Amino acid sequence: MIVTLEVNGERRTAEVAGWESLLWVLRERLGLTGAKDACQQGECGSCSVIFDGQLVCACLVMAADAEGAQVTTVEGLADATDLHPVQRAYVDEGAVQCGYCTPGLVVATAHLLTEHPDATPDEVREALAGNLCRCTGYGSVLRAVAAAQGASDPAGADREA
Ligand code: FES
Ligand code: FES
Repeated sequence: MIVTLEVNGERRTAEVAGWESLLWVLRERLGLTGAKDACQQGECGSCSVIFDGQLVCACLVMAADAEGAQVTTVEGLADATDLHPVQRAYVDEGAVQCGYCTPGLVVATAHLLTEHPDATPDEVREALAGNLCRCTGYGSVLRAVAAAQGASDPAGADREA
């Protein structure tokens, strides 16, 4: 079947099989490999994208259900000249190690701060609870979120995640 959707502001069309997920289509059909393919079970958050305004695991969305959808991937966050503020904060706070979880965390953080720019540290922790990272220990991630919020005191960032 043919699926047409808007990805990062561009109209894209792909021929997809019935079993294909949105994640598969983004990566294998549309060449957008930012969303990572780790667990394929909705457990790790590495494939997080914004789908019609909602944060979703792209591995759990069937491609056929993406007809007409608006999708934002990590590739759609930066503009032509600069990183998205959340991306900048992750870099500045050293919240990127192997980087496999980073696109999902960045998309989830950007979505959270769009919806709840004043999210408390506990709300941040809850919002990012579905994004697993095996490298950073989360302290630097929480500091990055606080920095992106413009917080001078990233309260709770050094608490055990
Ligand atoms: S690959 Fe989608 S949640 Fe892990
Ligand atoms: S930076 Fe390696 S899994 Fe998060």
